[in-house]
Amino acid sequence: MGFWKWLFSGGKKLDAEYGVTSPNGRIVATFFLERGRMGYFVKKDEKLVVRKSLLGLALKDKRALDHDFALVRMHKRSADETWETVVGQERLIKNAYNEMSFYLTEVNAEKRLMTVRLRVFNDGIAFRYEIPAQPGMNKMIVSDELTEFALNANDMAWWIPAYQPDRYEYNYNYHPLRELMHEVHTPLTTKTSTGHFASVHEAALYNYGSMTLKWTGAALKTDITPLSDGTKAHVDLPFQTPWRVIMIAHDEMDLTMSRMIWNLNDPPRQNFNWVKPTKFMGIWWAMYVGEWTWAPGERHGATTKHAKEYIDACVRLGIPALLIEGWNDGWEGDWLENGEHNKFMVEAEGFDVKAVSSYAQQKGVNLVGHHETVGFVTNYEHQLEDAYKYMKEYGIRYLKSGYAGSKMMIDGRREFHHSQIGVNHYQKATELAAEYGIMLNVHEPIKGTGIERTWPNILTREGARGQEYEGGALQPSHACILPFTRMLSGGMDYTPGIFDVNNFTKRLTSTLARQLGLFVTIYSGMQMAADRPRFYEHEHPDAFKFIRDVPVNWERTVPLLGEVGQVYVVARQGRGSHDWFIGGTTNEQGRQVELYFEFLDEGANYIAEVYRDSDDAHYRDHPLGHVIEEKVVRREDRMGVYMAPGGGFAIRLRKA
Ligand code: NOJ
Repeated sequence: MGFWKWLFSGGKKLDAEYGVTSPNGRIVATFFLERGRMGYFVKKDEKLVVRKSLLGLALKDKRALDHDFALVRMHKRSADETWETVVGQERLIKNAYNEMSFYLTEVNAEKRLMTVRLRVFNDGIAFRYEIPAQPGMNKMIVSDELTEFALNANDMAWWIPAYQPDRYEYNYNYHPLRELMHEVHTPLTTKTSTGHFASVHEAALYNYGSMTLKWTGAALKTDITPLSDGTKAHVDLPFQTPWRVIMIAHDEMDLTMSRMIWNLNDPPRQNFNWVKPTKFMGIWWAMYVGEWTWAPGERHGATTKHAKEYIDACVRLGIPALLIEGWNDGWEGDWLENGEHNKFMVEAEGFDVKAVSSYAQQKGVNLVGHHETVGFVTNYEHQLEDAYKYMKEYGIRYLKSGYAGSKMMIDGRREFHHSQIGVNHYQKATELAAEYGIMLNVHEPIKGTGIERTWPNILTREGARGQEYEGGALQPSHACILPFTRMLSGGMDYTPGIFDVNNFTKRLTSTLARQLGLFVTIYSGMQMAADRPRFYEHEHPDAFKFIRDVPVNWERTVPLLGEVGQVYVVARQGRGSHDWFIGGTTNEQGRQVELYFEFLDEGANYIAEVYRDSDDAHYRDHPLGHVIEEKVVRREDRMGVYMAPGGGFAIRLRKA
């Protein structure tokens, strides 16, 4: 799987070059040593996608681990396996790669050891640093990571800025890399000058600051989120960094099918067959549109009475779970300022957890608990285990957690959510939740790095600008960028299904039909039907039928058509079902798309229940215009579907 060339310098292998090829032979990642400095470059179909890029780690008060290296040994490994997801965009994921580990030693007096492990898949490359425990070094403080990704200055990137008060919740910018002025978050998706799509991200982020990227003038360089002491990570050895990943695809739809991030994570070490993806409604949007409040008072949302009414609505609408926000003590006054005193086992006045939970149980509706920590992590961690026990006592198995606030407050220090200390908190909450049988929907989270393969109780995350930013801060193109950027890192709680699109306080830049399409285009293991029940029951019961029918867990996903920021159309088959669902969204431009059905069973007829924009629909002045119609389709058929400006569509394909 490679070629090997080494040059001896004083008896040591300070110059070397070794290429690792993808199973299909199209991607070659070459690791090199040049006078003791290490690096790599990547070609796809003979074209250089990533130029020579240097590697290394800088350590506090020590010489950097980036030069004076000689190669002592290599180890080759390959895999070709298929594994089954508990929850996901498909049931089976293929994991095939060629791997080479490069064991290195310093040729100076310190003789420190390090390994670079490189894996090459058909859909990209990944590598990580592994530092063994060794004489004279059993811990290290990383002051900088020196990894480069030398994409070309003219490659175009969709990016959101890092180190900002609203974490990942920004609109995407689109510029050539040479114009990147900010540190940016990953996944960073680029359209390369070689005509490929490449996205830089990381996998298996544990016990380390999260990776942001910075353009140096010649390359993207890692910028690990710092701790408040200015360093990047304090670790004990042995230690391995998260995987540095470059997904590479020939087009953007192909990119959306990359599953490398999950393949680079370990299988679960415990049984997660209790994990059940779910749809849910919430005592929630009523607060956003100002009908109700989180805090107790005349318009308090989370009252026992409202909760019971919403539970009844869940039963009537066939939605299996209900989120209740504002149920606990801590929302009075400016909740964003007072989070230090939030209590996760004390109900707000007017809310009776015992009565509500037993009513829910009686009606067969699952409750989704809510812990808004406002980022006061010390306060939360003091209560965490007891709060989970409290949930368990009331039979509450789902939890939406939240970390609103520009930074976390931990032991009197203000830390970035995405720093090592933040990463470790999210992990602690996840592992403890698994112990208590709790499934999570994390808002203001750490970005997804595929760890839900190991911890499938993380059903979804927010971690991007979602629909709560409607009413001024969202553009129709946003939902057509996410599938190619944010969604490469895993499911998102985008909160689709708002039917009250014309609401005065929160006017959507969306048509009604598009709200249905989002249930398919934005994957989430917990999918919210976000509006108030009366809009489903009384305003648009016909359109609601799609929300009732659409699954949250999938057997297969087939990308149909798309262009970043313009349009995205995807087909998915329900897990363990014959039904297929197609969702589409467009940007500000209306368009007609041509669908094909080659994924359907041969010889079978399917009833297509189509929910689309009417010909005169428009997100600005006629967002409610929609048509629901039925057609019969077969595998060999074609179907044109119209999407209005800011519109979209949803189709259920039922085997006749
Ligand atoms: C921000 C979250 O994204 C939102 O869903 C939640 O309702 C508020 N914080 C309050 O916790």
